[in-house]
Amino acid sequence: MKRYLVTGVAGFIGANVAAALLRAGHEVVGVDNINDYYDPLLKHYRLRPLLAESIFHLSKRIWLMRLPRKRCLQTDPFMW
Ligand SMILES: NC(=O)c1ccc[n+]([C@@H]2O[C@H](COP(=O)([O-])OP(=O)(O)OC[C@H]3O[C@@H](n4cnc5c(N)ncnc54)[C@H](O)[C@@H]3O)[C@@H](O)[C@H]2O)c1
Repeated sequence: MKRYLVTGVAGFIGANVAAALLRAGHEVVGVDNINDYYDPLLKHYRLRPLLAESIFHLSKRIWLMRLPRKRCLQTDPFMW
């Protein structure tokens, strides 16, 4: 298992890349500021299955990341 950093993880490409990495058994650290360039609800919808994975960590900013292995840093993006 490797640990990957995926930026823009709530976006179209990022969410699909993260899902593929998780399926392959890797740990993923995703960063996204959930901006409103288009509807943020779509981004939350994309994040939902990723957040269910214990090896997925989500952060709004890179400097926030301090990773306890196998735990979600942020489990509910609606809390932001
Ligand atoms: N989708 C395509 O077919 C395609 C093709 C070629 C190139 N690209 C490029 O690939 C990149 C991703 O494309 P996409 O379709 O996934 O876009 P997208 O808009 O769906 O995803 C980008 C994500 O990055 C996040 N983001 C933006 N600025 C951020 C910041 N400062 N900090 C944290 N998160 C931030 C946004 O909230 C969004 O969720 C873009 O640069 C796009 O131009 C996309």
